[in-house]
Amino acid sequence: MEIVQFIHSKWAYLVLLVLVLATFNALIKFFGDKEFDAKDFRISLFALITMHIQLLIGIVLFFMKDYFSVIEQVGGMGEVMGNKALRNLIVEHPLTMIIAITLVTIGYSKHKKKLTSKPKFKMLAIFYTLALVLVLAKIPWSLWF
Ligand code: HEM
Repeated sequence: MEIVQFIHSKWAYLVLLVLVLATFNALIKFFGDKEFDAKDFRISLFALITMHIQLLIGIVLFFMKDYFSVIEQVGGMGEVMGNKALRNLIVEHPLTMIIAITLVTIGYSKHKKKLTSKPKFKMLAIFYTLALVLVLAKIPWSLWF
């Protein structure tokens, strides 16, 4: 389990770095009226891939941590929701990250369907920015450092 948590913890640096780069790249080029080129495609795809890998590692970690037994031990989901730390780890972190990954997936697939540069950057800028805000909001900062 330690190894999975270690990978999830280290991979998060890459996720954050690539998501920040892809988001700012889209925002800057959208507002700067730039042409969409192969590099823009690559960075947005890379953000999609790193986030999906983090999702898989996270799901494995979730089951390995055996949170289902934890829920039982503390006396059910009501108790979990009433405890800030448990609610964060068991509910808010996974759920928010899954929503963020979904937003990136939607943004990526929407940008692919657009044929010109401006709408492509627009889709990426909107969905990746929303995803980045959620990721920043729900990274367990105190556990991470
Ligand atoms: C973009 C997506 C995600 C990012 C950036 C992220 C980031 C992190 C970070 C930085 C930690 C703290 C690791 C440490 O101890 O140093 C963590 C913990 C954890 N994450 Fe994620 N995560 C993501 C998605 C997910 C998903 C989708 C799940 C589950 C379905 C998940 C489940 C967990 C679990 C179970 C822990 C361990 C909490 C504990 O210490 O008990 N994560 N995550």
